[in-house]
Amino acid sequence: MSELDRPDYSQLFRLDGRRAVVVGAGSGIGRESALALAAQGADVVCVDRDLAAARETAALGTGADAYELDVTDGDAVARAAQELGAVDVLVFTAATNVRKRLLDYSADEFERVVSLNLRAPFDLVRAFGAGMAERRRGSIIGFSSIRAVTVEPGQGVYAATKAGLVQLLRTAAAELGPRGVRVNAVAPGIVDTPLTAQIHAVPEWSEAYASKSALGRWSRPDELAGAVVYLASDASSFVTGSQLFVDGGWTAVDGRYTPPT
Ligand SMILES: NC(=O)c1ccc[n+]([C@@H]2O[C@H](COP(=O)([O-])OP(=O)(O)OC[C@H]3O[C@@H](n4cnc5c(N)ncnc54)[C@H](O)[C@@H]3O)[C@@H](O)[C@H]2O)c1
Repeated sequence: MSELDRPDYSQLFRLDGRRAVVVGAGSGIGRESALALAAQGADVVCVDRDLAAARETAALGTGADAYELDVTDGDAVARAAQELGAVDVLVFTAATNVRKRLLDYSADEFERVVSLNLRAPFDLVRAFGAGMAERRRGSIIGFSSIRAVTVEPGQGVYAATKAGLVQLLRTAAAELGPRGVRVNAVAPGIVDTPLTAQIHAVPEWSEAYASKSALGRWSRPDELAGAVVYLASDASSFVTGSQLFVDGGWTAVDGRYTPPT
């Protein structure tokens, strides 16, 4: 490789001149992702059903705007893709969980989890992916979970949506790759956000989760931001169809027993 061809590695993660849309930017991992993308120079649109929360995030990041959207409304998603113009990076974090055993689940609860965790990503990928494919550039980043690959009682529907999301994103990677669009998933372990407040409220549950990861603790939402910047930037220019685990080693360690060796 000649000196002229070699990238300027000091700029590897920079996103100057790129437009990023972060859906779920009002809270938790979405907020930190939006702030990190903005810090790398991206022009960020903070999208959330909760406009006040999206505005709070936008106010924290330089060059960020806020936009109100309920992603379970397919027509509104299509409209947003039109209104937000040429987008280079789409990140979506919005998801929900109803922690109940399968026999206790109601049809309404199933519908609620599936429509936000699986149907909305389907609509988002189609709405924003079409423009990216036309422009022949783009990076789509969805949020999966360790539950896409490892389960426990009470997480069945959530786990099914996350496993389904990964296959949806892999297929999008296959279909859009030839048109210059990369599609990847980030799979967090256990992150201290409003989504996990129910777990935090029970000390035994919270501590068991902390000790399951190799690092022996929960993660903070900002610890997911690096993965998002990496997948958004040219640092990952040959990465597509992948699932990046940011789980503190949760899925690497069996964890049932530590032998006395
Ligand atoms: N927190 C964890 O421990 C954890 C673990 C594994 C995976 N994840 C995944 O990471 C992602 C982010 O989780 P989080 O903990 O940051 O969540 P969060 O609950 O803190 O934030 C979700 C955001 O999405 C927004 N939202 C909800 N419904 C919406 C809708 N219909 N339209 C638009 N916006 C909507 C909410 O207003 C909120 O701002 C999710 O996909 C989650 O499944 C989280």
